Amino acid sequence: MNTTIDLKSQVLNLLKDESSTTEIENSIYTIHQHFHEVLDIPNFDESIPNLAAVSTSKGKALGMNHAAKCLFDYKRTVKFLKGMIAAIKEKQTAHPNETIRVFYAGCGPYAPFVTLIAQLFRSDEIQFDILEINALSLNHAKSLISGLQLNDYIGEYYQDDAITFKIDQEKQYHILFSETLDALLFRECYVPILFNMLPQLPDNIHVIPNNVQVNMNLSLMSMTNEGYKADKTETILDARQSVSEHASVESIPERLPQRTVNVKELNIEDYNYFLLDTKVNVFDDIWLERNESSLTIPLEMEIHKPFDFSKMVFTYEMKDAIELKYQLFE
Ligand SMILES: C[S@@+](CC[C@H](N)C(=O)[O-])C[C@H]1O[C@@H](n2cnc3c(N)ncnc32)[C@H](O)[C@@H]1O
Repeated sequence: MNTTIDLKSQVLNLLKDESSTTEIENSIYTIHQHFHEVLDIPNFDESIPNLAAVSTSKGKALGMNHAAKCLFDYKRTVKFLKGMIAAIKEKQTAHPNETIRVFYAGCGPYAPFVTLIAQLFRSDEIQFDILEINALSLNHAKSLISGLQLNDYIGEYYQDDAITFKIDQEKQYHILFSETLDALLFRECYVPILFNMLPQLPDNIHVIPNNVQVNMNLSLMSMTNEGYKADKTETILDARQSVSEHASVESIPERLPQRTVNVKELNIEDYNYFLLDTKVNVFDDIWLERNESSLTIPLEMEIHKPFDFSKMVFTYEMKDAIELKYQLFE
């Protein structure tokens, strides 16, 4: 039997600036319980199919249980909700009386950026097409959307790989949503998805998250110190810039152009710590800050002296595995 909760008021709780962390955690917990009551499954069990990552044409897509747990990445979920609402409102202002069309690539089993967002808009205001590579996740998302009586909000469901998917050119999307990333853009498919999708979408499409950068910081103090401050910062990778600079719209490169940092010129030996930081720009001025989410956990290393290298060369590989690598050169 389904308990009735006011899903809309739980979503509004998440959006209130004055909501405490505990209130936000409670609302997410209540929403999660409700989703499982609607699905009529107390929990997703820890079976191998539920846990297994799915291979894509480049990296890996999260196993269903891991995708489900993203809902509990509280600050992420709240900031992405806020970003999505801001993007929808901006598009509504730019296109009055039009239905705002969203392409949602990678919905997981709860499709939260449909099931929660739909509480705030009518189905003639917003429509979603949903794509997900993991059949288990997609099937649960369909059941949940249906159980929540949100079918009116959905155009199409596709079980497919967002890295190779060809968008129906008849469709005019306003927003691309794809939270398919991890810290340091490791393993997951956000960058190749942008390479595939953006050339097929209008130039003024809003993308959520709008961009991801990986920065390299040099500092005297460790990030574990209160008041940590980077003394020098260099951008190693900028996802949107990389896509816009790629000459071919037909193919996805096997790797991004290498980024060489002349660390001797940066006087690396004057510093004690080297940190790689993932900066997620959700939308407009909404940023996921360092350590606010699993997506922004930094990697810090101590700089051992003497440091006999003058250059660091960073390569973002996207062939068989997706990962950022670096090499040191004298
Ligand atoms: C991090 S989870 C996020 C789930 C949900 N959207 C949320 O924000 O809570 C990413 C989802 O994208 C899917 N995904 C990842 N790469 C994909 C790809 N190349 N094509 C289609 N789906 C993909 C995964 O299977 C997973 O369900």
